[in-house]
Amino acid sequence: MRSRILGTGKAVPSRVLTNADLEKTVQTSDAWIVERTGIRERRILEEGRTTSDLAADAGRAALAAAETEPSALDAIIVCTVTPDMPLPACAVTVQQKLGATCAAFDMAAACAGFVYGLAVGDALVRTGAYRRVLVVGVEVLSRHVDWTDRNTCVLFGDGAGAVVLGPSEGERGVLSTHLFADGAQAPLLTIPGGGTAHPPTADTLERRLHSVKMNGRGVFAHAVRNIARASLVAIEANGVRPEDVTWVVAHQANLRILEGVAEKTRLPLSKFYLNIARYGNTSSASIPIALDEAVRDGTIKPGDLLLMSALGAGFSWGSALVRW
Ligand code: ACO
Repeated sequence: MRSRILGTGKAVPSRVLTNADLEKTVQTSDAWIVERTGIRERRILEEGRTTSDLAADAGRAALAAAETEPSALDAIIVCTVTPDMPLPACAVTVQQKLGATCAAFDMAAACAGFVYGLAVGDALVRTGAYRRVLVVGVEVLSRHVDWTDRNTCVLFGDGAGAVVLGPSEGERGVLSTHLFADGAQAPLLTIPGGGTAHPPTADTLERRLHSVKMNGRGVFAHAVRNIARASLVAIEANGVRPEDVTWVVAHQANLRILEGVAEKTRLPLSKFYLNIARYGNTSSASIPIALDEAVRDGTIKPGDLLLMSALGAGFSWGSALVRW
């Protein structure tokens, strides 16, 4: 038995922040951002709404697509590094908003969050004990970005994507997942404040320790190398060839990273589903948002072989191969 994605959904805020808008607040330009990242605009969550609101909206859409009632869910996994609050888990708030009564927990693997969540959801279904698992990737990084730091504030956007997993005995479903991590690289990308290392104080606020700190070049090199490696591991483990892959639904961090991955894996960029221009980097949410769009616009068809691959802070990274 394996698990299959029974339905997908997404939720993105309606507020659009364009590169032209950012030109007014930091020293940057549309040309610089587009050339270095491929990003043209991103979505920003409205004040008063939270991560769990977006996650629940995406979850509802996925449940409707899977023709599954919230009461039928056995588990909700919310992949995020930007929960509503440190305690309780964002997933229990999502459970309450959906009107479900199942197990609910969070997973934090940054931009690799959805691949990690999919691997755990798949494993739960394959035990036979869990028949319906909702996996949500959601991020509201706009609340953790230093809007005066042009190195990071141009990159991120908010959003949520979700899938419902259920058992499948046929050819379709999750064929493999592979997860990796290397904590030695952690300093390259952090939000240092707010935890036990730097509990919130006036000083941590003043030093902006509650916002994203990033060594962009370091992240770039690791992302290209490890997303490529994880992609090839998935291909080799399943005894298929790169040309057998129909679509690559990879983490949308940066167009240049994906160009590098395409070159290293010999998977043509034309096979990569791209929506980075419209949403920026939505971290855990980027793969399920892209998947939902590609499914709904008819790009992905039954029988297609999908490769999902991502790297995020940690570094944590991984891949999944899925027969749609
Ligand atoms: N607008 C204009 N200039 C900028 C901007 C900006 N938004 N940001 C940085 N610069 C400047 C820098 O200050 C620097 O100026 P200096 O030479 O006067 O010091 C110059 O541009 C070059 O900076 P670099 O950091 O060397 O630029 P680089 O070509 O590496 O591009 C970028 C920066 C886009 C961040 C790149 O390193 C990158 O994409 N890294 C990956 C980061 C990423 O994707 N992180 C997301 C989270 S992790 C993940 O999802 C995989």
